[in-house]
Amino acid sequence: LRIVNVVGARPNFMKMAPIIEAMNRYPERIRHILVHTGQHYDEKMSRAFFNDLGMPRPDIDLEVGSGSHAEQTARIMVEFEKVCLREKPDLVIVVGDVNSTMACTITAKKLGIRVAHVEAGLRSRDMNMPEEINRLCTDVLCDYLFTTDRFANENLRNEGVPEKKIFFVGNVMIDTLLKHREMASRLNLMDQWGLEPGKYATLTLHRPSNVDDRATLEGILEALSEIARDLPIVFPIHPRTRKMVEQFGLSHRLSNGNQVRGIWVTEPLGYLEFLHLNMNARMVLTDSGGLQEETTVLGVPCITLRENTERPITCEEGTNVIVGNRKENILAAARKVLQGGISQGKVPEKWDGKAAERIVKALLAVEDL
Ligand code: UD1
Repeated sequence: LRIVNVVGARPNFMKMAPIIEAMNRYPERIRHILVHTGQHYDEKMSRAFFNDLGMPRPDIDLEVGSGSHAEQTARIMVEFEKVCLREKPDLVIVVGDVNSTMACTITAKKLGIRVAHVEAGLRSRDMNMPEEINRLCTDVLCDYLFTTDRFANENLRNEGVPEKKIFFVGNVMIDTLLKHREMASRLNLMDQWGLEPGKYATLTLHRPSNVDDRATLEGILEALSEIARDLPIVFPIHPRTRKMVEQFGLSHRLSNGNQVRGIWVTEPLGYLEFLHLNMNARMVLTDSGGLQEETTVLGVPCITLRENTERPITCEEGTNVIVGNRKENILAAARKVLQGGISQGKVPEKWDGKAAERIVKALLAVEDL
């Protein structure tokens, strides 16, 4: 079985790492290569993760870089088509919901190559979110749909996907978290910021809906300044957000590496460093998808600065609350956490560190080799 594994952006790397590891247990049955589209290219957004996760270097880097959605998607398709024609894989595996996921799915399917989507069936039902468009296009085309939870299974069924295409395997991102949890717990990062376990928050922010509009971004930063009076916040800033903060002239609210009203802005952190900070945090504030899941497993309260989530299981069973991006709502949720108002929750079914193994076993069974 010749497989091309695809990654493109930061949240893809921790999902693909355990899949590659599981594939390596079947060397006589699976030959695989790793293609990086180059959607994320900064050292801190890309290479650092390969090191942290012990992932093999990509065999092929398409180096597509940034651009508008159409430009980026088109460039990935043009370059990935060449790879498919040259490598002639039996199967392409894509993960998550970034532009690379969708672009490579369309390209492979048009060449008659089977495609498997890991993390299928998630739906925010918000078509203003580019990722929702990527998810829908990807799932409708894919041959094998690997899901993380029962909501995803239901979504696919409701869209008329035949049962035999749906494989409920659990969460590969959590495979990675459980594998590195112990290692991350041994780091010591808090001293440099004078932090103590349970007495700070972490923050990530990068969604266009939060950072591309000046008034929205300013409101969020105001809420954060207020929270930071009681609870210092560590903020590894995404390049997109840094760019927008500068463009809108809001840098005075966040000054690089210096403590301003309790907010510590840093470059994007490595996987282990950030896991270390999250596992010891009093709360996590985020608009990311993956962090909603990671905090659920870590039992750390998560305040999600979005209007909706494609991961409702983290609210229903885990520690997540959806608060949107208005200042008062963010503040109210943070206060509630500080008063002990958000409970621990439980770990969803099959988020047990064995998802990648289930995926590889299922593929070997269905591909019948
Ligand atoms: C992408 C994904 C998003 C994911 C996020 C995680 C899509 C549509 N979005 O968003 O789902 O949550 O990654 O980080 O695929 N930039 C750099 N260096 C980089 C990469 C990006 O400076 O290595 C800057 C560029 O200015 C670029 C901007 O960030 O224009 C946006 O990058 P892009 O890949 O389009 O989307 P993200 O916002 O990173």
